[in-house]
Amino acid sequence: MSPKFLNPYGAFSDDGREYLIHNPLTPRPWSNVISNGDYSLIVSQTGSGYSWRGNAGQNRITRSFQDLIRDNWGKYLYIRDLESGQFWSATYRPVMVQADFYQVAHGIGYSRFTQQIHGIHSVLTVFVAPHDPLEIWELNLTNRSERVRTLDVTSYLEWLLGFAQEEHREFHKLFIETRAEPTLSAVFARKHLWGFPDELGRHNNLSWPFTAFHAVSRPLKSCDCDKESFLGLYRNDDRPQAMQESRLAGRTGRFGDAIAALQVEVTLQPAESQTLVFTLGAAEDGKEDAYTLISRYTHPEAAHQTLEAVHRFWAAFIEPEQVQTPDDALNFMTNFWLKYQAISCRLWGKAGPYQVSAGYGFRDQLQDSLIFLSSQPDYTRRQILLHASQQFIEGDVLHWWFSIRGGGPRTNCSDDLLWLPFILGEYLKETGDYAILDEPVAYLNAPPEPLYAHCRRAIERAFERFSPRGVPLMGDHDWNDGLNAVGTRLKGESFWVGEFLYLILGDFIPLARRKGDEAFARRCTQVRRELKEAVNRHGWDGAWYLQATTDEGQPLGSHSNAEGRIFLMPNIWAVISGVAEGERAAQAMQAVSDYLMKNYGTLLHSPAFTCPRSDIGYVTRYAPGLRENGGVYTHAAVWAVWAYRLAGQPRRAYEAYRKICPPNRSADIETYKAEPYVTPGNIDGPLSAYYGRGGWTWYTGSAQWLQRAATHWLLGIIPEEDGLRLDPCIPAEWDGYRVRRPFRNAIYEIIVHNPQHVSRGIVSLRVDGQPFHTNRIPVFGDGRTHSVEAVMG
Ligand code: GLC
Repeated sequence: MSPKFLNPYGAFSDDGREYLIHNPLTPRPWSNVISNGDYSLIVSQTGSGYSWRGNAGQNRITRSFQDLIRDNWGKYLYIRDLESGQFWSATYRPVMVQADFYQVAHGIGYSRFTQQIHGIHSVLTVFVAPHDPLEIWELNLTNRSERVRTLDVTSYLEWLLGFAQEEHREFHKLFIETRAEPTLSAVFARKHLWGFPDELGRHNNLSWPFTAFHAVSRPLKSCDCDKESFLGLYRNDDRPQAMQESRLAGRTGRFGDAIAALQVEVTLQPAESQTLVFTLGAAEDGKEDAYTLISRYTHPEAAHQTLEAVHRFWAAFIEPEQVQTPDDALNFMTNFWLKYQAISCRLWGKAGPYQVSAGYGFRDQLQDSLIFLSSQPDYTRRQILLHASQQFIEGDVLHWWFSIRGGGPRTNCSDDLLWLPFILGEYLKETGDYAILDEPVAYLNAPPEPLYAHCRRAIERAFERFSPRGVPLMGDHDWNDGLNAVGTRLKGESFWVGEFLYLILGDFIPLARRKGDEAFARRCTQVRRELKEAVNRHGWDGAWYLQATTDEGQPLGSHSNAEGRIFLMPNIWAVISGVAEGERAAQAMQAVSDYLMKNYGTLLHSPAFTCPRSDIGYVTRYAPGLRENGGVYTHAAVWAVWAYRLAGQPRRAYEAYRKICPPNRSADIETYKAEPYVTPGNIDGPLSAYYGRGGWTWYTGSAQWLQRAATHWLLGIIPEEDGLRLDPCIPAEWDGYRVRRPFRNAIYEIIVHNPQHVSRGIVSLRVDGQPFHTNRIPVFGDGRTHSVEAVMG
């Protein structure tokens, strides 16, 4: 296999399904986030990382502190030669021995570490069981030397058991209890404290309702649950005391710093291979039994079968939609990595190397859930209903809520609530499942109403919040959370919210008619007309659209501002929403091209703020060029692809895409630093000393949108009420492309030829071999595969 997008640290496998790292000293930790929707882990190329169940903030299982420079917290395996006393680890960390060969393969649902050290070849595969709360470490050892080798293998991890922001070790260690069960080759840990109040509001009065376990597939030589005896006082994990002793100390109970370490012995003849299996998990009281889980999974045959099951599990999300284009960066990201990032990390793990989240963002996970539409739209459906349940009868919603036990901030954010009808609109175009509108969902403070009413209330609430000039109020902030001082006194305006609402109403009016809600449809029609006028009248700054006006009536994103002169969002969404037409739309996009489109993607605003502005908000307090402060904020930068497409600028659309498509940055990886196989949240803008550096990878809403940018906005496969519209917007150099995707219970095999080398337009189309006169391919719904062959020109 020839490596693709090779850089000094790694490359994609030829088919793009794995990212292969051969040098562990990558410019930042390059991680994998593996989740089954309940149990999750993160593991980096050094073997470091941690595990959690349900939520990395509230229910962390193993201990870890974020240290991006050292990447030195993990769950590790030591391998020791009992003859020579030499020891090393199955991953680069913690012992950091130079291997003869080192390769990490991050894959969809697993990471595999292959290395050879001192004549012992080892393959460690780490994965999460698809349907149970545990992870498996399958370690295969082969003796590549000429003599018999007697080794021992020792695991090591620290228990955390509960809230991650647990700083006071001397306090928390009072509550953990460990126990060994040598007959099962296992150790167990419980914690008699969980950070939640009990039902009477009394703090520190609840037990962590799980039993954590760690087990191995061989008879135990020894074990330990005490950090002091394992590491030795004042030592690090690269040279633990345990590697100086013939056996582990065997301390358990309530009085130490709780760890888990299991030690087993292995004798290998020359050329012999053996497989050991370690499991680690947490069984919930009254629901699961740790003993059963251990015996079900902790042996080589089960590990093998479970890894096969992992592949099948992920295939259901990854395989249904596949594309084949001349651009391998697009192919790899679209076919595998973006779906995986959005599902495994954003929706399920809800944590990544740079962010530990304790909850669901109302707008974030709704947007992320679009990722399921082409493979498993039922998951999107459930997400919509879940979010509807976090709404108040007044129409507003929780900005985010804790995923365990719920609860979260009720704010005056101006856009959160509107994502509910927006995502519903996308769901309906994909599925035609209008029955969802009648699904009853309870409000946080009122009895159930159908989903339709939830969306209507969200829109009505937004209608109540207009300025005297007819522009929506900014409130606590809009999509850009960092604009959190612009409009808190309910005077400042958000032109972007005006555009967003305009777009949503366009979809909602026909829906209201379908529900027989004619009066509301008429009201929406009128508001929509007025909105367009108000945004164009008050939001046009002369050469581009304003982002906002502040509570003091000052413009933001105006030629009169020295910093934050032009913002991306109001300009691209003017085009996306249809608020801007003709010359206006062209002018707005020209301003985007002139001032915001830079080497590494489209900036969120320019120039970045260099001085804090207490009338604007925390966006001005970030270092200039970072995150939302004038960097490439990828979540929004993707929407530029959409706007350029709609503005009829295919070359620019592709440019806006290509610049933020991560594999392309392998070419200047020392500048970029971040993983080339998942999207970063931000890329440093021009005012940063690290212009072009990727940051905050994995946990970003850009993954799902970059997927859409490829499938919908470039390849032009657009689900609509009555069919799939085929409307490419591609680089003219391409000879064509293929897409296979399901749509309403049929499979569409689409081949597009581009003999004239154009960017847009279809001149002929055949469906199942028959000439077809529109580019809207009908709904078949017959469970069959249909061929679509199009010629551009
Ligand atoms: C973060 C938030 C998201 C917000 C964005 C822009 O990604 O999670 O909700 O829209 O920042 O501020």
